Amino acid sequence: MVELVPSILSADFAHLAGQIAAAERGGGTVIHVDVMDGHFVPNLTVGPPVVASLRKATRLPLDCHLMIDNPNEFIAAFAEAGANWVSVHYEACTHLHRSLEMILHHGMKPGVVVNPATRVDLLIDILPMVHHVLIMSVNPGFGGQEFIPFSLDKIRRLATLRRELGLAFRIEVDGGVAHDTVAQVVQAGAELLVAGHAVFGAGEPERDARALLEAARKTPAIPTDGS
Ligand code: DX5
Ligand code: ZN
Repeated sequence: MVELVPSILSADFAHLAGQIAAAERGGGTVIHVDVMDGHFVPNLTVGPPVVASLRKATRLPLDCHLMIDNPNEFIAAFAEAGANWVSVHYEACTHLHRSLEMILHHGMKPGVVVNPATRVDLLIDILPMVHHVLIMSVNPGFGGQEFIPFSLDKIRRLATLRRELGLAFRIEVDGGVAHDTVAQVVQAGAELLVAGHAVFGAGEPERDARALLEAARKTPAIPTDGS
């Protein structure tokens, strides 16, 4: 089932509660929170205090995408703040297995993220541990960037691996998901569609979330389970 995951990165940060409520009315079912530290990526955003406030503003799951060095140092704080899903970058974790276990042990759903230049096959050994795999389809750090086309091959490869390994993790895509790319992304096998600029960029999150989700859901996904 395809779900829309609005990313607050492109929202009006002075009115987050209202922006999220509008995106939810438009069909968003998970809220994506981009956490950036100015080291792993060249930008700064928000951390656990904002997650704690968001927790009071919505009942939707909060999907925290950690674009930070040393993520293990902050996993407890995100759990305390009320995060539901936490994903860490393959490229930021020297001990990825340990990071995923920490997320799990704090009662949250663990995810792993790969940058555009990182092959999904590097994840094979830890795929049984994750709730979701996030394929970056732009270089992380900023909203509103252009979709990198070879990300589609990575989504297809991941869907194949999932089938071959008999696993059930969810496939999420992040970056440049908009009207002109959403059909290809769904056809390739992505189910969790993160979208920032396409939902919040024009200041009409309810309308634009609805339109994007409708476009996604009328695209037939190509079956990856052999059926
Ligand atoms: C980029 C972030 C994304 C960002 C996507 O580093 O991880 O979540 O919000 O933004 P759009 O949908 O505008 O490409
Ligand atoms: Zn993100």
